[in-house]
Amino acid sequence: MTTQHQPAAGRCPAHQAEPEAAPTGPIPIHGDAFTADPHATYDRLRAQGPIVPVEISPGVYGYLAVTYRAALHLLRNTPTRFAKDPQHWDALRLGQVPADSPAAAMMMPRDNALWKDGPEHTRLRQAITSSLARVNTHALAASVTRIADSLIDGFATEGEADLVAQFSDPLPMLTVIEMFGCSQELGGRIVTAVTRLFDAGSDAAQANADLEAACLELTRLKRHRPGRDITSWLIAAGLTDPELVQTILLVIGAAAPPTSNHIGNGLRRVLTDPRFAGSVHDGVRPVSDALDEVLWDNPPVPNYSPLYALGQQSFEGVELRPGHPILVSFAAANGDPALAVAPGARAGNRGHLAFSAGAHSCPAPDLARIIAETALERALDRLPGLDLAVPESELNNRPGTFLAGLTALPVRFQPDTRLVPYRR
Ligand code: HEM
Repeated sequence: MTTQHQPAAGRCPAHQAEPEAAPTGPIPIHGDAFTADPHATYDRLRAQGPIVPVEISPGVYGYLAVTYRAALHLLRNTPTRFAKDPQHWDALRLGQVPADSPAAAMMMPRDNALWKDGPEHTRLRQAITSSLARVNTHALAASVTRIADSLIDGFATEGEADLVAQFSDPLPMLTVIEMFGCSQELGGRIVTAVTRLFDAGSDAAQANADLEAACLELTRLKRHRPGRDITSWLIAAGLTDPELVQTILLVIGAAAPPTSNHIGNGLRRVLTDPRFAGSVHDGVRPVSDALDEVLWDNPPVPNYSPLYALGQQSFEGVELRPGHPILVSFAAANGDPALAVAPGARAGNRGHLAFSAGAHSCPAPDLARIIAETALERALDRLPGLDLAVPESELNNRPGTFLAGLTALPVRFQPDTRLVPYRR
């Protein structure tokens, strides 16, 4: 039962003791104003404190950690003081999270490593890390080169393209599908289902069912005929079929969308920042410098890692009640003025939190870097005179709380006259 002194599950944690509408609600980290300039919102939030109440998506409330110190405190004290398991989320337990909310899709529990704590997390994560460690990084770079080239062949004769729709969006998914040893047909079904799921349309439940069915089919195929691929290595690590399905879903979902956004954000940086534009073409500055900078000031996963306080706690004077999600803003933490990392000191500096930290930190930052660097290098090598086709002010951010990327990146370049035009 909810009393005045207990958190009412679906309500904003800032206003538990005031059932009447408060004059100003928690600042939203969704919607047009946030999407247009997320850092302006992070600055406003940081002015309120290190961990502040926010509206995560319409009707879904929690806290957001917006300083570097607060982010590290949460991530390094998981799972001892903070849990990842959403069974600690009061509003979810009480059925108060709108089923069609983008937050629901990204914060609901699934039976995989991302949402587990303690020994269960360690066991499932070890299966992932031991499998990813077997990926041959030279072969991966060669696959990305081949996939990048075939995508570029599709538009190189035209002299113009949208590098998001035609390059950065499809490339990581096609790469990951290969890493899992998928046939083209099965890979196509997985890509279609993941795309439908991320569109979060009315057929999300059916898309989820199709995705699980395709992953189960892949699992069964690889049990019969193992290969040198991540699916076979996960099987060798001893996971059951249901665990395999959920782990394949996790790795594909965790790998492809952030890497797509990272490639798009990196391409934008080399095309628009005078410190990179020009110099990456002649090799003076490596694309890895641009990608490092982007991980600092425009990380592809800006806000995530929902955590739940295990018991009443406080951090730098902020009371953290159990039962409410506390998201970590990797973007706000990286931009924390208290960190004082000058823009010029970011290339080669891996102190950012774009890959998170602690028990659930990304197990594949090196693989992500190989995919993104190879993709950028191929685009710059294959598309001479590459330039934006619109003023930078016309580029738009994708809406959403959890992923940061561009809706489109229209470019022009010298058409490749040696290729036969691609027929759609
Ligand atoms: C630029 C690209 C990438 C970025 C920015 C990124 C970022 C992140 C972040 C912030 C987390 C923590 C999420 C959380 O705690 O809620 C994470 C977790 C994870 N990432 Fe990545 N990631 C990237 C690419 C990849 C790739 C290529 C793979 C696999 C091939 C991958 C696999 C995973 C997995 C399996 C987890 C869950 C780990 C766990 O819960 O123990 N990521 N990633």
